[in-house]
Amino acid sequence: MLIKNKASYDISENQVTDEAVYQQRRAVLKKLGFLGASALLPMQSNGQIFDFLDNKSQESFKQQPLTFKQAQPSSQILTPESKVISHNNFYEFGSKKDQPVELAQQFKVNPWTLKISGEVEQEITLDYDMLFSKFTLEERIYRLRCVEAWSMVIPWIGFELQKIIALAKPTSQAKYVAFETLYDPEQMPGQASRRLGGGIKYPYVEGLRIDEANNPLAFLSVGLYGKTLPPQNGAPIRLVVPWKYGFKSIKSIVGIRLLKNKPPTTWNKLAPNEYGFYANVNPEVDHPRWSQASERRITSGGLFARNRIETLPFNGYGEQVADLYKGMNLRKNY
Ligand code: MTE
Repeated sequence: MLIKNKASYDISENQVTDEAVYQQRRAVLKKLGFLGASALLPMQSNGQIFDFLDNKSQESFKQQPLTFKQAQPSSQILTPESKVISHNNFYEFGSKKDQPVELAQQFKVNPWTLKISGEVEQEITLDYDMLFSKFTLEERIYRLRCVEAWSMVIPWIGFELQKIIALAKPTSQAKYVAFETLYDPEQMPGQASRRLGGGIKYPYVEGLRIDEANNPLAFLSVGLYGKTLPPQNGAPIRLVVPWKYGFKSIKSIVGIRLLKNKPPTTWNKLAPNEYGFYANVNPEVDHPRWSQASERRITSGGLFARNRIETLPFNGYGEQVADLYKGMNLRKNY
């Protein structure tokens, strides 16, 4: 095991589920003054307590309504907003699922600067308002499959990544796209503390091949559920790459650089034998320490609901993206 300071990826799938339930339960019970009495509470009342907390946490954000082109009605059951915004991976605000919603509340997203540079004819700098006005915003309902084997269905709002790339006019040398999250340890306590930040070397960085980045599914999101993103989900702008494990979907982006060479990526640097550059969702290639054949879909059921479904190749988006990997060994290129 390469990571001394255990990140949540470092535990088995069942443990992950139990850990999330356990942590959230502890936090709730502590708030309500029940710590120590948890075993006495019947399942039913635990569920109600969580619903109450979810509603409370929602009230504390200052999200703004957005104008956007709505998605076609979908047969997919959406993960409730209260869960999308309270069960997060954002290690800059702590490595536990319930920490970002608490620790990111003071995060300042305006003013913001997103710069597109590198192998481009036209460098672009967008300020906060331009993130919402430069491109027509549309809604996309995507499945998000975390490498930890849980998943959600989320109505994102944003625009295709390829639109911003086209605007910058990539040179013929541009073969990869690198992304970088804000580095600001004063605002992001996980960047200031190795323990809180899961041992990651910040800033968090990610990357795609240019043809992946230009696939119409690759999306820059500025909102969810009709409003601007809350900080814990990556405000003001984050990537969403629905056919890849969630760690590719980098949050709170300040830099997009077009490059000749493959850029380093955060989880791959931390544990290259566990997290590859491609990270395409693949039920046939297990994580070294847990199976990727199935996932726990997070729905409106209580936190104790068992909702295990089969994982699909490319997270069910094979028709749109499988061609990108023709002839590649996906076991080697995990
Ligand atoms: N981006 C940054 N900067 N830092 C992170 O810790 N976590 C990733 C990804 N983007 C992460 C990040 C992981 S592991 C996942 S699963 C998704 O964000 C989770 O997105 P969500 O919290 O909106 O569900």
